[in-house]
Amino acid sequence: MKKEKIAFITGASDGVGKAISMNFAKNGFSIYLMSRSKQKLKKLKKEIIRNYSNNRVELIPFNMEKKFSDNLLNFCKKKLGPPNILINNSGGPEPTNFSSTNDRMWEKTINRNLLSVIKLSTIFSKQMIKNKWGRMITISSTVAKEPSPTMVQSATSRAAVLAFNKSISFDLAKFNITNNSILLGGIETNRLKKLIKINSTKIKISEKKLRKNILKNIPAGRFGEPDEVASLVEFLISDNGRYINGQSIIIDGAMSKII
Ligand SMILES: NC(=O)c1ccc[n+]([C@@H]2O[C@H](COP(=O)([O-])OP(=O)(O)OC[C@H]3O[C@@H](n4cnc5c(N)ncnc54)[C@H](OP(=O)(O)O)[C@@H]3O)[C@@H](O)[C@H]2O)c1
Repeated sequence: MKKEKIAFITGASDGVGKAISMNFAKNGFSIYLMSRSKQKLKKLKKEIIRNYSNNRVELIPFNMEKKFSDNLLNFCKKKLGPPNILINNSGGPEPTNFSSTNDRMWEKTINRNLLSVIKLSTIFSKQMIKNKWGRMITISSTVAKEPSPTMVQSATSRAAVLAFNKSISFDLAKFNITNNSILLGGIETNRLKKLIKINSTKIKISEKKLRKNILKNIPAGRFGEPDEVASLVEFLISDNGRYINGQSIIIDGAMSKII
């Protein structure tokens, strides 16, 4: 594929989304970066320009708990062009169990983690179909396949996204559009640190001890790096990854028991 790569990345300002964005910028892609904080996005853009002299970067501060506008495609057409790579990332839901999850939390999570994927895929696939090339990747979680009682919002929304992505891959494959999901477990980011902090308070042990306990359950003996996820994304969007479609790929140091 020789044509210009234009990527749209949600949850771009931190963690895995940031690693993917930096890697795309390094490879000379034009990129749309979406997350809530304008300040964090501006900081990332500066970092991208400083490191890679790539200023084909458009910032879209937006809270994905709200509904997306249908004008997004027109907006992109006027800026860097319509994206041919979509990375659905975004923030994860807070950890709650069934009885402590209220309607408002469900609504936010379904908007941010499920409806956003449906909407962005709908908006951007149209141009990908016309151009007969596209790549869509959702950054998900192993809880989509291995639900846990305290991650009920994440497990529910993400399992639905897997079904959506698999379903649409049947329709889109003939247009050279691939759609895959990457299921994360134990990637060292601010979210992981935050979850360790919350759980250590809940179960009344130190963060250090909890980290050690978690690591005992990761056969690799370490947490993963955001850059390792970015490398997998790079392969999936490359020409060499063109026959991998409709898949859920786990990256978790052999932590989960899923086959
Ligand atoms: N790290 C792991 O081990 C792990 C494991 C399983 C699943 N995951 C999932 O993988 C995804 C990425 O994880 P991460 O660890 O990189 O998370 P992270 O470090 O918390 O980064 C999340 C990114 O999403 C943005 N974001 C959060 N809420 C948003 C919202 N409502 N609207 C728009 N942007 C929003 C944040 O920026 P702003 O603050 O600027 O909005 C940030 O850029 C998440 O969905 C997470 O649940 C991660």
